[in-house]
Amino acid sequence: MQRKRVAILISGRGSNMAALISAAADPDYPAEIALVVSNRPDAAGLARAKAARIATLVIDHKTFGKDREAFERALDAELASHRIDIVCLAGFMRLFTPWFVTRWRERMINIHPALLPAFKGLDTHERALAAGVKVHGASVHFVVPEMDSGPIIVQSAVPVRDDDTPDTLAARVLVAEHRIYPLALRWLAENRLSVVDGRCNVAGAGDRAEMLISPSP
Ligand code: GRF
Repeated sequence: MQRKRVAILISGRGSNMAALISAAADPDYPAEIALVVSNRPDAAGLARAKAARIATLVIDHKTFGKDREAFERALDAELASHRIDIVCLAGFMRLFTPWFVTRWRERMINIHPALLPAFKGLDTHERALAAGVKVHGASVHFVVPEMDSGPIIVQSAVPVRDDDTPDTLAARVLVAEHRIYPLALRWLAENRLSVVDGRCNVAGAGDRAEMLISPSP
């Protein structure tokens, strides 16, 4: 099967990007990372991508002022010229307009550091601790116009400990993120995902159960 060409969009550190890059280094992985795009010139992840010899681009949203669609048209043109099949958002801190989301419908996925639909938005670890939940985690989902709301592809749960701080909890969740993002991209690249009534089904999901609960580090 032809490997799917993937663009990863980042704004910062890029640890999820790195997890996808290392999964795709396996020739049997069904996707190749063809491009990394940052909307911020100072994103640390850019250096990591370059070190892995992946094409990188900066499309600085600030140069487009308030015109969100102009930024998205520039991005879309680059994705087209790199013949991108799938877009992975990995710590990408911009919301997209319905125009862009519709163009990439069921071809664009995101990782969120919480067990959706709980704790959409920012500061998820602080909010999970404040709520006193005993289980927290991460979700990979299709992107829809509403933030952090698309069909959920895979989730991984981690325990919340009494002495956790937002940082210790974030570190535990990050381990789970790095496990499930490559798995979700694999399923998408293998055309195994189908969305029915807002729910995502995974064909032959026998390997999903083992990903549900991450071993605690
Ligand atoms: C991750 O926690 C991800 O879930 C969230 O933003 C963070 C990005 O981290 N969307 P990194 O840039 O992948 O290291």
